[in-house]
Amino acid sequence: MSREWNSTEYHRLSQPQVSWGKKVLAGLKLRGNETVLDAGCGTGRLTADLLEALPHGQVIGVDVSQNMLQSAREYLRQFSSRMSFVAADLQALPFSRVFHGIVSTAAFHWVLDHDLLFTSLYRALRPGGWVHAQCGGGPNLSRLRNRMNELARSVEFVPYLAGYAEPWLFQDADEMNSTLRRAGFIQIETSLEEAPTVIESRQQYVDFVRTVIVRTYLERLPKEWLRSLYMRRLADLAAEDDPPFSLDYWRLNLKAGVPE
Ligand SMILES: C[S@@+](CC[C@H](N)C(=O)[O-])C[C@H]1O[C@@H](n2cnc3c(N)ncnc32)[C@H](O)[C@@H]1O
Repeated sequence: MSREWNSTEYHRLSQPQVSWGKKVLAGLKLRGNETVLDAGCGTGRLTADLLEALPHGQVIGVDVSQNMLQSAREYLRQFSSRMSFVAADLQALPFSRVFHGIVSTAAFHWVLDHDLLFTSLYRALRPGGWVHAQCGGGPNLSRLRNRMNELARSVEFVPYLAGYAEPWLFQDADEMNSTLRRAGFIQIETSLEEAPTVIESRQQYVDFVRTVIVRTYLERLPKEWLRSLYMRRLADLAAEDDPPFSLDYWRLNLKAGVPE
C-alpha cells in the first residue's frame, strides 16, 4: 500500500478532520511548555493549533508520508524555532522517554498493528506522560465500506480489487481499552462517538472521498477511466442518501497515561 497522499488536496479538503481535531485539542490540559508529539501530523493544520497552545513548548510532527511532511513544513514555517519533523512509522518511533504528551487525530486507524503502535508510543513518552487522541473506530463508514465491497465484486473492478483487504483498523472502545492496557498505559478512557458528515456537493464528495478515503483502492485501478467509473458509482449511490452525500463517520476517543 502506498504511503503517499495528495497533500495539497488533503490540506484543501480536510475540514471535517480539522473540526473534529479542534475539539480534541480543546480538551488538552497544557501548561504551555511541554514537548509534544503530533503523531500522524498530516499537513499540519491542527499542529498549528497545538503550537499556539504551547507558547513555550516544542512540537515534533511525525508522519510516514513525505508529501504530507513537505506541506506541513511549508504551512508551519512561522513556527520553525519550536517545531521539527521526523519521517517515521508510528509503529517504530525512534524515541525513548522524550515526550510529555502525544496528540493524534485521524491517524491511528491507518496503522494496522495497534499493539506495535501503542508499545511504540508508550516508549516515546516520559514517565507521567499522556496520550490524547481520536481516530476512526467502531462502525466507521460502514455504509460506504459496504458499497465499496459490492463494487469490488463487480465485473469491472474484480480483477483489481478482489481480495484487497481494507487499509484500516477500526477498534471499538473496549478493544482499544484492552490494547492500551496491554501496552502498559494506565488511567485509560475510551469512547465512541457518531460524527455524521454531509459534503456540500457532488464534486466536493468525489474530491473528498478520492483523496481521504479510497486513495489506496484507486491506486490499484490501472486506468483513469476505471478510477473515474469507481468514483461515479460511489457518487451515484451517495446522491440517493438522505441527506445526499453524507458520510457515516464514527470517531474513537482515547486518553491514557504512563505511570510516574
Ligand atoms: C487523515 S491524515 C490526518 C492528518 C492530521 N492529523 C489531521 O487530523 O488532519 C492521516 C495521517 O496519518 C499518517 N499515517 C498513517 N499511517 C502512518 C504510520 N504508520 N506512521 C506515521 N504516519 C502515518 C498519514 O500519512 C497521514 O498524514
